[in-house]
Amino acid sequence: MIFTIAIDGPAAAGKGTIARAVASHFGFAHLDTGLLYRAVGRHLLDGEDPVQAARALDPAELDEGALRTPEVAQAASEVAVLPEVRAALVDFQRGFARREGGAVLDGRDIGTVICPLAEAKLFVTASAEVRAQRRFDELIGKGLDVDYDKVLEDVRARDARDMSRAEAPLVAAEDATVVDTSEMAIAGAVAAAIAAVEARR
Ligand code: C5P
Repeated sequence: MIFTIAIDGPAAAGKGTIARAVASHFGFAHLDTGLLYRAVGRHLLDGEDPVQAARALDPAELDEGALRTPEVAQAASEVAVLPEVRAALVDFQRGFARREGGAVLDGRDIGTVICPLAEAKLFVTASAEVRAQRRFDELIGKGLDVDYDKVLEDVRARDARDMSRAEAPLVAAEDATVVDTSEMAIAGAVAAAIAAVEARR
């Protein structure tokens, strides 16, 4: 059985949590495509050429822990504007999406560019303030010394860059179900996402 669930949305809207829960509910494999851009961003911070890094990237070697920092997130959104970087990552994502057994991919352009024919599409969003608060809580929980206003500024800067880029900007696909998690607890958001996917089965 081949079935692709595309989940897009801005940073810290709850995409990752929802994607993992939906994948586990349906027994599908899950790919957080942001990790691919973060890995390339990490190479940029190390002084390497991002296009070469994207072409040479081995997705099997992504170390999630090292890639979940604010510096890497900003670098990821900088390399994500480069068409050659995006192009180098397309085949791996499409291959993953069509794997036997079903797949959930979360990112910014899955329903619009990577998998325009995905069987189910969700656009998970929330207000910038709510998303900044969630990211702030997460970073504080990891013991990092962060400031809420700075986190909000980062969220807005990343939104602006992701939405205004020429190549694969962040936008809801026309046929995506929008899930606004601003006022929702995790369980409610996951239930809404599962119901939206069931409706396309
Ligand atoms: O989702 P995450 O915060 O890990 O993504 C990091 C950055 O990677 C995003 O801000 C975005 O610029 C980029 N990205 C993208 N397309 C995707 C996933 C992530 O451009 N499918």
